[in-house]
Amino acid sequence: MTNINTLKTELTTQIEAANDLQALDDIRISALGKKGRVTALMKTLGSMTPEERKTKGQELNVLKNEITNQLKKQEKVLKKVEMEERLATEQLDITLSIRPERKGHIHPISQTMDELVTIFGAMGFTVAEGPDIEDDWHNFTALNFPPGHPAREMQDTFFLNNPAKVEPEQKSGDTRKLLRTHTSSVQIRHMENNEPPFKTICFGRTYRSDWDMTHTPMFHQMECICVDKDITMAHLKGCLTDFVRAFFKIDDLPVRFRPSFFPFVEPGAEVDIGYFKKGEGIKLGLADNPNDQKWMEILGAGMVHCNVLTNCGVNPEIYQGFAFGMGLERATMLKYGISDLRTFFDSDTRWLDHYGFDPFDRPNSATGQ
Ligand code: PHE
Repeated sequence: MTNINTLKTELTTQIEAANDLQALDDIRISALGKKGRVTALMKTLGSMTPEERKTKGQELNVLKNEITNQLKKQEKVLKKVEMEERLATEQLDITLSIRPERKGHIHPISQTMDELVTIFGAMGFTVAEGPDIEDDWHNFTALNFPPGHPAREMQDTFFLNNPAKVEPEQKSGDTRKLLRTHTSSVQIRHMENNEPPFKTICFGRTYRSDWDMTHTPMFHQMECICVDKDITMAHLKGCLTDFVRAFFKIDDLPVRFRPSFFPFVEPGAEVDIGYFKKGEGIKLGLADNPNDQKWMEILGAGMVHCNVLTNCGVNPEIYQGFAFGMGLERATMLKYGISDLRTFFDSDTRWLDHYGFDPFDRPNSATGQ
């Protein structure tokens, strides 16, 4: 029979040497399992005399308990080591962001407004504001729109049911409020509430009952007014030419003034910029061959009508000036190659990621536009 003490020493050495839980379990099975060495010794008790069985049985029980305790102790030690290893290797780096960073973008219309503020700011213009909901006086009558002018009609203008409050001296054609059809109403409000000279631009939403590839019922305009004692058409041409060349960043961009009619200016003009066909598309600028030069209209302009000045309490014998108005979407589409006007208002963030601008890189008079 195997010497109990030898077996004990042997097992103790094995248990202490076990360096992982699997090895420890193998030792447990080899000692205490069904066919284990301690179990085998236990089985021999049956063939012993009662005295022998008593002493040997006791000895074997002590051995079994000791081995069991040693196994438990070593298991604890190994589990602790294993846990420490896992804690050391399975570190969670909470400084990593969960998703790719999403950066917001500035809408192209806001970008264009900032660029225009930068350009006109450098020329000494200030920015004025006016309401989207207007009355007939500020949107039409004061701007010299004759009664019955088609622009006042339902098919162009969104009228509201609310009656507008109109001052007695403001003879008005329609008593309802309306959504302004152009930003020219801001010219009127600015002149009514300030003393000349005026040198102001304004931006805002404007509304007309239109809907197709190039027209949306809401769009944005920019308006410019400059009134002083010696303002001439030459100032208008100089200012506009400088502005469109700065805006489109083309130093020799051809600019053409075409006579046109707006009730609130005299003379009035539509302003075109030059482009030419290039490959499949078009390119703004001066064509090499004059026969290839094409023109597109970008804004309306003119010398402020004397009736408009009078309506705003400005003496046209002393003051005169120019004004112009431009659609911001169209200018932005041309500058940044955006083909469908309606996408401006779809609120699609993928579109904005593509066409939008970095919020940390805003145009300003220090850095240029
Ligand atoms: N208000 C005109 C429009 O909406 C533009 C314009 C403004 C024309 C000022 C001349 C002078 O089309």
